[in-house]
Amino acid sequence: MFNAFIIICAYLIGSIPSALWIGKIFYKTDIRQQGSGNLGTTNTFRVLGKKPGIAVMLIDILKGTAAVLLPLLPLFADSTVHPLTLGIIAVAGHMFPIFAKFRGGKAVATSAGVILGYNLPLFLVLLAVFLISLKTTKMVSLTSMITATAAMIYVTIFWIVTGNFALFILISFLASFIFYRHRENIKRIKNGTEPKIKGF
Ligand code: G3P
Repeated sequence: MFNAFIIICAYLIGSIPSALWIGKIFYKTDIRQQGSGNLGTTNTFRVLGKKPGIAVMLIDILKGTAAVLLPLLPLFADSTVHPLTLGIIAVAGHMFPIFAKFRGGKAVATSAGVILGYNLPLFLVLLAVFLISLKTTKMVSLTSMITATAAMIYVTIFWIVTGNFALFILISFLASFIFYRHRENIKRIKNGTEPKIKGF
């Protein structure tokens, strides 16, 4: 009972379509109709600009962090669901949100939030990889996949050294989500038509 409740909460938190709601409420714009059509940070920056882009990024990161930290609430004291499982469920909610006809984002910011809430050293390593890669490639999509690959390398080494298999499994799920959701971006990167960001 408690486990079902906490799982539903994690999914609902992940499902909050921040890019859709901020676009519609403050800019009277449905960003699904513009840019890449993706309900995520990058497309919000692209279509609506810096302030809403930052707001969507922070909310989407927070969704992942909040889901991982849910078991700390007294309400969920009896739950036995692993925090990482809740994180994966929140990312699934972000990708397939009940509040936006199951058409959501590409898993990047919410995955970052999950890692932030569960393993700060890994988050900081990946943040550095992300920033260096973005500076070099100017493509958020490619940078997201490079960072997912770096995460897999990190957790593989971590698994070998410490025997922590749970982290390896979590990151494998998140990295798979990220690659799967970037299928169209991969085609555009190959064609040389993937948009690059300016001013970074
Ligand atoms: O955060 C998603 C990003 O990696 C790609 O987004 O809109 O360029 O497809 P987009």
